Formats: sequence, structure tokens, C-alpha cells
Amino acid sequence: MSKISVGLIGYGYWGPNLARNFRASDLYELSYIADLSEKRRSAAQKENHGSRVISDYREILEDSKIELVAVATPTSTHYAIAREILSRGKHVFAEKPLTNSIAQAEELVNLSEKAGTILAVDHPFLFSSAVRKLKSIIDSGDIGDIFVIDSERLNLGLIQKDTNVFWDLAVHDVSIIDYLLGGVLPHRLMADAERYTQQDQHEFGAVSLRYPGKQIANIRVSWLSPIKARRMMIVGSKKMAYFDDIHPDEKIKIIDKGVEYDSDKDKALFPVYRWGDALLPRLDNTESLRREVDELYATIRTGTPFPSSGRDALRILKVLSAIDESLISRMEVAIV
Ligand SMILES: NC(=O)c1ccc[n+]([C@@H]2O[C@H](COP(=O)([O-])OP(=O)(O)OC[C@H]3O[C@@H](n4cnc5c(N)ncnc54)[C@H](O)[C@@H]3O)[C@@H](O)[C@H]2O)c1
Repeated sequence: MSKISVGLIGYGYWGPNLARNFRASDLYELSYIADLSEKRRSAAQKENHGSRVISDYREILEDSKIELVAVATPTSTHYAIAREILSRGKHVFAEKPLTNSIAQAEELVNLSEKAGTILAVDHPFLFSSAVRKLKSIIDSGDIGDIFVIDSERLNLGLIQKDTNVFWDLAVHDVSIIDYLLGGVLPHRLMADAERYTQQDQHEFGAVSLRYPGKQIANIRVSWLSPIKARRMMIVGSKKMAYFDDIHPDEKIKIIDKGVEYDSDKDKALFPVYRWGDALLPRLDNTESLRREVDELYATIRTGTPFPSSGRDALRILKVLSAIDESLISRMEVAIV
């Protein structure tokens, strides 16, 4: 199958990761990189021989050879840029979060569906070896019914000006949980957050989500933490799982712990605690973004479903918007 010619818009902090992975893949030709900043263009020029580096991204849209455009500009600009790309009949690979609002994201999803073009959104954790392994273990039934998921994403910084800590960090937890639970929206949530060092954005936050299958997911995120933590605990009816994304080689543990009851006796008085073995599944070390761009190629060329489509991203935005609503109302919010 033929290579896909791709243009990249935005070469700030994250754009170079996209460029590196498109260049490393035999499936793509990174033809253009656009950035408004001269400094970033000069970095792009040095690091990407063979790609045309430009300031005005519209040049990419004029080129009929370009099939796919990746958008790694600040989130507030995604909507206008993606709309322009889709209206030219080209596929879009947009950074997370897709847009700042549900209405804008819905418009992009409808536009792509009408045009028959792909709208893919970069939620990189859905392509990580660890999350893929967790998903296959959950889907195999090994963990049983999921009861509770507890997730933490803590760091010192990077404090953002245009989004709060939920839109910056919890977007990852929400998308991982959405993926593990099979793409269902929580039906309600309650969030709390605070600003400490600056007035603009909440730097610490916690949210509790309730899913229709009785699952509870708790997420804590912070830009004000003395340690970096990215960990998730999953409590199932048969086993439990612990995912530590910082750990170099033991990222996932499947632990045979649980509680059972002697059916002949009073339930409250006779719980039996099971302390079994822990399993460390072997993970391959493919970079998430590399797997993501390879799967995106298959989606564009052969129509295989992409796990992080515009419609999937819309669910994540509904959750993030409901979190903001809960912060304002200081009440539990229902999601419809
Ligand atoms: N997938 C991930 O894990 C991940 C990680 C970090 C950031 N992001 C997302 O990537 C996006 C960019 O974040 P960042 O941290 O790289 O931001 P950044 O500010 O470092 O970079 C954005 C770049 O876009 C350029 N730009 C802005 N408007 C432009 C335009 N109209 N045309 C051409 N260039 C333009 C800027 O000059 C800048 O160089 C955000 O949506 C962010 O949420 C995703």
C-alpha cells in the first residue's frame, strides 16, 4: 500500500514527538511542518531534513498530495484548524483534547462523517503496551466484574495557562478508564478542585465518577506534587490490578486478592480474604505514538476502526465539561 503524505501543524512541545514518529515509520512521508514561531521553525528545519518547513499552514491544505494533517497547536485553535482541513477532504489527527467545547467537537465529528474523512484524536495511552495489556486481561474476564478504579496523576507542573489540571492531566485518566470499560459514559460525577499559586487555573483536583455498571472511578490530579505519580488500581470481583506507569519494568501487576464469603454462615461475620500470587505480564516496548500512527495508517487505508476517533473523544469532552460544571455548581452533575 502507498505511503501517506502528512503535514504537521504546530512544532512546540508535543509536535516534535509526532514528527519523529511519522518520520520513523515507512508508512508515511512527513512532507510539511508549519509553525508560526520562527524559533520553532528553525528547530523543525534542523531536526527534519526533507520536510518543507513553513509558517502558514494553508499551504498544506492547497497540496493535493497531502492526505493527512496532524494538529499539535494549542487546544483553543484545534476547532478552526480542523474544520478547515476537513472541509478540504483531508483526514485529521488532532491532539487531545479535541476542542475546548462539546459543541465544537460535535461539529467536527459531523463534518468528518459527512465528508467520509477520518477524524482521529491523539489519546496516546490507549496505544501503550501497558494499557493494551490491561484491556486484554479485563476483556478476558480474568479480573471479573470491575468494582472500583482509583487513578492518580501527580507532578510538579507543568502549570498551563489555558486549561485547568483536569483538562491537562485527567483527560488521560478519563480516556484510559473509558477505554477499559468499553466506551461508556459515567452517568454522574462530583468534582472538587482548588487554585493555590495563581488565580487562573485549578492546580489540584479530584473527581469521583459513577458508571451505569455500578463501577466507581476516582481520579486525583495535581500540578503541585513533590513526587511524580501515574498509577491506577483496579478492583475486580475475581482479581485486582495495579498499573504504575513510572515503573521501568513492572508496570502492571495482576494480583490474586479478593474477598469471598462462606455461604453457610452470616455474610457480615465470615468474610474470607484471599491472598494469592501476583503476576507481572510481559510488555513489549513499542512506543505508544508509534503504534498509534501505524494503526492510523491501517484505518485510513483499510477502514479498521481507530480506538480514539472523534466520537470517542467526544465522550471524553463530555466528562471534562461535566467536571467544570461540577466545580462551578459545587454539586453532583448528571451526564446525558
Ligand atoms: N498527547 C499528549 O500526551 C500531549 C502532550 C502534550 C500536549 N498535548 C497537546 O498538544 C497540543 C499542543 O501542546 P504543546 O504543549 O505542544 O503546545 P506549545 O505551545 O508548546 O506548541 C504549540 C505550537 O503551535 C504553534 N502554533 C500555534 N498556532 C499556530 C498556527 N495557527 N499555525 C502554525 N503553528 C501554530 C505555536 O507557535 C507553538 O510552537 C495541545 O492541544 C496539548 O493539549 C498532547
